[in-house]
Amino acid sequence: MTIQTLTSKPDGLPDAGELARLANAFFSSLPGQTPQDSGTLTPPSSAAQPALQPLPVTVPAAPVGSGLRDPAAYAVPETYAAKVPQLAAAQPSAPTAGGAPASSPYYFVTEAGRYGELAASAPAAPLPAVDDRVTAQSFGLPGEDVLRALLAGDSRQQLAAPAPAAAPAGSQFYFLEPAVKLDKAPDFDRHVASRQHGFDVNAVRRDFPILAERVNGKPLIWLDNAATTHKPQSVIDRIAYFYQHENSNIHRAAHELAARATDAYEAARNKVARFIGAGSANEIIFVRGATEAINLVANTWGRQNIAAGDEIIVSNLEHHANIVPWQQLAASVGAKIHVIPVDDSGQILLDEYRKLLNSRTRLVAITQVSNALGTVTPVAEVIVLAHAAGARVLVDGAQSVSHLRVNVQALDADFFVFSGHKVFAPTGIGVVYGKAELLEAMPPWQGGGNMIADVTFEKTLYQPAPNKFEAGTGNIADAVGLGAAIDYVERIGLDNIARYEHDLLLYATRGLQSVPGLRLIGTAEHKASVLSFVLPGYRTEEVGRALNQEGIAVRSGHHCAQPILRRFGLEATVRPSLAFYNTCEEIDTLVAVVQGLAKR
Ligand code: ALA
Repeated sequence: MTIQTLTSKPDGLPDAGELARLANAFFSSLPGQTPQDSGTLTPPSSAAQPALQPLPVTVPAAPVGSGLRDPAAYAVPETYAAKVPQLAAAQPSAPTAGGAPASSPYYFVTEAGRYGELAASAPAAPLPAVDDRVTAQSFGLPGEDVLRALLAGDSRQQLAAPAPAAAPAGSQFYFLEPAVKLDKAPDFDRHVASRQHGFDVNAVRRDFPILAERVNGKPLIWLDNAATTHKPQSVIDRIAYFYQHENSNIHRAAHELAARATDAYEAARNKVARFIGAGSANEIIFVRGATEAINLVANTWGRQNIAAGDEIIVSNLEHHANIVPWQQLAASVGAKIHVIPVDDSGQILLDEYRKLLNSRTRLVAITQVSNALGTVTPVAEVIVLAHAAGARVLVDGAQSVSHLRVNVQALDADFFVFSGHKVFAPTGIGVVYGKAELLEAMPPWQGGGNMIADVTFEKTLYQPAPNKFEAGTGNIADAVGLGAAIDYVERIGLDNIARYEHDLLLYATRGLQSVPGLRLIGTAEHKASVLSFVLPGYRTEEVGRALNQEGIAVRSGHHCAQPILRRFGLEATVRPSLAFYNTCEEIDTLVAVVQGLAKR
C-alpha cells in the first residue's frame, strides 16, 4: 500500500472526502481488492460474497486534538521482537498458509501475520555451550506389551527397557533419540523404563506455568483434563500480545489494528481447518464451545432438515450437550430419538446401531471419545453406516481433539465440533466444522452485525459461511489463543501425544486395579485418557476431597453424562483424566491416596 499525503483543512485535520478517499485506498490495496471511487467506502470482500453496491459513507470530521498520526508511528518497535516467543513455522500443508493468493483474507499477506513476522525476526537464542536439556529417564514408561502382561498379573515379566539417554546435540527439545536397551530388567515399581519414543515430559511441563502451583502445601497434580486443560506459556503470551498490540474489532474498519486483529483471527481459523483436516477455512465457524456448536447445528440444519416422524440417533455415551439440544429439537418438531446401547465395557454396540438406522433417520450425533468413560467410539464405521442409510452425522470431538489425530475429510463427518479449552486453549472459544455444501444451505442462527451483506428494513442479505454464523463481535482474542494452542500441539505432534498418553493410561489402569474393591467403570479396548471409578464405602465427593487434600484435582460427580453412568447403576464416579503433561509419579501419588482410603 502506498501511503498517501493528507490534504488538511485549516484546523490541521483532513476533510471527510479526503478520509473516505484514504479509506478506499487502504481497502483497495488489500489482496483481491480493486480501487474504488473517492467518496465511497467498500469493506474487504471475498469472491463468494453477494455483489453489493458501494455504500455512500459520511465520515465525521475527527475531533480537534484527536491526534491523527504519521502511519510510520504505528510500526511495532523493535523492542517487542525480543519479547515474542518463538512460534512454529506455518506448515506447508495449510489450506492457505504461505504466500497469500489473490483472494486471501490476510492484510499482512501470510497466516503468521505481524506476530509471526516478529517471531521470525527475533534473534535466535544462542545455543548453550554444554547441552543441558533435560533427558527422558525420569518419567519413562513401559511399553504396551509389558503393561498388558502386568495387567494380566505377571508383574515380574522381563522388561526389555531402554536406558535413559542424554539428548544428543541435534535432537528436538521434546523428543530424545531412541534410547538403547538395558541388559537387565529395571524395577518396574520405580518405573525407570523408558518408552522408545523418548517423550520428555519434564520439558513439556515447563511450558505450563500453572503446573508449578501448590495446593494444600503439595505440588498440584492436575488430573481433571477432561473438564479443562491448562494453557502453555505460548498461548498465554499470544493472548497478551493480542491485547497489547492488535486489539480491535475485526473485518470492517479502515485502520491498522483492525487489520492486525482480522489477520490474527482468520489465521486461527486457518489453523483450525488444518488441524482437523477440513477442506477450507470457510468450513470453520467460531462459537463459544462444543455446547454452543451443537446448539447451532440443532437450531439451523436441524430445524431445516428434521420434521415430524423423523429420527435422530445418539449413543448412550453422550454428554448432556449432545443429548439435550436434540431432545429440544425433537420435542418442538415431533421427531423421535433413539439410543445406541453400550456393552459392559462401555463400547457402543454396532449391531444394535445397525438395527436403529432406517429411512427416517436424519441424523446420528455421536461422541468420538466419551468424557465419562474414555471410550473411543468407532466413528468411522458409524459414519459409513449412517451415510448408507441417508443420514448425516455430527461428531462431538470435545474429548478427542487433544488426544487423537482427527481428519474430518477422511472420516467424512458432516459436522464436527470441539471446545478450545480442552485442547490447551482458552475457555469461551470453540468450533463447528460443517461440510461447505451443508453450511451454504443452512439458515443463520443468530442475526446481527458481521453476518450480513446488506440490510434494509425490507430485507437482509447474509454473508456466506462462516460469517453467516458469526453474528456480533466474537471472542477474537481467544480464537487467536486457540490458534496458538494448535501451534503448540502440532509442535509436539498428536501421534506422540497419543502414544505417551496411551502408555500412561495403561500405567494408571494397572495402578488403580491394584486397589482392593475399586471398580473401574469403562474398560473398553479403545480408550483415551479417562479413568472412572467408584470405591466401596466412600461417596465420590469424599474421594475427591481426600485427593484434593494431597493436591490432586479430579472430577467427581455425574460428569454431565448421567445416562451412561446410570447404565452402570451409578449416579457418580471419581474421574481422573490425563493429558500429556501428567507423569507416572503423579499416578503413583493418586494410587497411593486411593489405596490409603481403601485400607481404612
Ligand atoms: N464436559 C466437561 C467434563 O467432562 C465439563 O468434565
